[in-house]
Amino acid sequence: MSKFHITGGIKLSGEIVVSGAKNAVLPILAATIMNGNINIIKDCPDLKDVRTMLEILDAIGCRTDFKGNVIVIDSKPLNTYIIPENLVSEMRSSVFLLGPMLSRCGRVVLSYPGGCEIGPRPIDLHIKVLKSLGVSIQESHGLLECRTERLKGCDIQLDFPSVGATENAMLVSVLAEGTTIIRNAAKEPEIVDLQNFLNKMGAKISGAGTSEIYIEGRKKLTEVEHSIIPDRIFAGTILAAAAITGGEVFLKNVIPEHVRIVLSKFSESGCTIKEENNGVYLKAPERLKSIEMIKTLPYPGFPTDMQSQFLSLMSVAEGTSIITETIFENRFKIVDELAKMGCKIKVDGRIAIVSGVDYLTGARVFAKDLRGGAALVLAGLAAKGETVVENVCHIDRGYDKLEVCINELGGRISREVIGTKDESH
Ligand code: UD1
Repeated sequence: MSKFHITGGIKLSGEIVVSGAKNAVLPILAATIMNGNINIIKDCPDLKDVRTMLEILDAIGCRTDFKGNVIVIDSKPLNTYIIPENLVSEMRSSVFLLGPMLSRCGRVVLSYPGGCEIGPRPIDLHIKVLKSLGVSIQESHGLLECRTERLKGCDIQLDFPSVGATENAMLVSVLAEGTTIIRNAAKEPEIVDLQNFLNKMGAKISGAGTSEIYIEGRKKLTEVEHSIIPDRIFAGTILAAAAITGGEVFLKNVIPEHVRIVLSKFSESGCTIKEENNGVYLKAPERLKSIEMIKTLPYPGFPTDMQSQFLSLMSVAEGTSIITETIFENRFKIVDELAKMGCKIKVDGRIAIVSGVDYLTGARVFAKDLRGGAALVLAGLAAKGETVVENVCHIDRGYDKLEVCINELGGRISREVIGTKDESH
């Protein structure tokens, strides 16, 4: 377990390059199982979840190598269909292994996946998708035992545009017989990246980024080389760090279209925003203004993964803001920790009413999930005095060296490592 020591009250300024997207790289790493070949993946962020996925791939026989930001995976030597339970329990994204394992082996045994504590995260939609393509599934003692003799393409109607279920549906259909259509699909940019990766591998997929995705089954896949798209949530978080400290930053390697709704909220709060080729500039006003309404929605709506950061941001804005969470019900758990720093936030079910205060004060606070942890860091950057953020392991799951980036922009965060390095990162 590591902790961050943050000295607040310093305006961030300067330029940084945004790393590759966590939510794009994880399903792509799982997909490398499918070709039984060499895969080269560039611009990978060095995250705890990425390391866990690589450990899983190693444990089932694949050969992986992570150097610089490049991951090379040879999935030919894969030798088991049983995914080790201890690793699965660390990360919800292990659910992405279901589709690729069934495509490659026709079998997989996986325990129920773990991950952030942000409310019940069922996998019923994933299971429904797999069953509709001809997978039989037995659930007992927390284990999912999935088996198929023959995957057969079909027409899938998702009840909700779940990101993960859309990705699993794509993964399991690539080598199925015939055509699969996914209706009411999620439209997130990471789904487009997965389509591009799979198509480079020889899949025939179209429509990702819209609500209907078409997959024509293929018999064989080839080796592939691919670069991961930039992380829109990382970008949004650093922009929020600049905004909350009254700073001015330029982020390179951002696809402005991916962060458009978030940029519009920064503008509403009084920030100056400029989009430049593959980059975004933000200059904060003297004092941020409140935002009348932020409501999380599936893409292209406001991302639930930026909701916690805006709780911190609006806590120091002038006026009252209303934030509605429609995707994950427990995402306001961080409010109790923010209150220790002086944030005035009232939660009623899925709605948070944030009354802006003149200043926050440093405190000892505990990260409870990934984005909530980032929100505490932001509040700490704005607060008077020192803030200590405990349980940084949650933050490490999704931010590649957050403290290094913030220090590069003139902030002051140091990491205190407790225990072994591996435990903390
Ligand atoms: C992905 C992202 C996560 C982001 C979320 C929403 C990855 C690795 N993670 O998570 O960062 O916060 O999208 O943008 O890409 N649901 C069900 N049954 C299911 C699946 C989902 O009820 O089988 C519900 C969930 O509980 C949640 C909603 O659907 O309320 C959205 O979940 P989903 O889009 O699937 O999110 P994830 O893929 O888990």
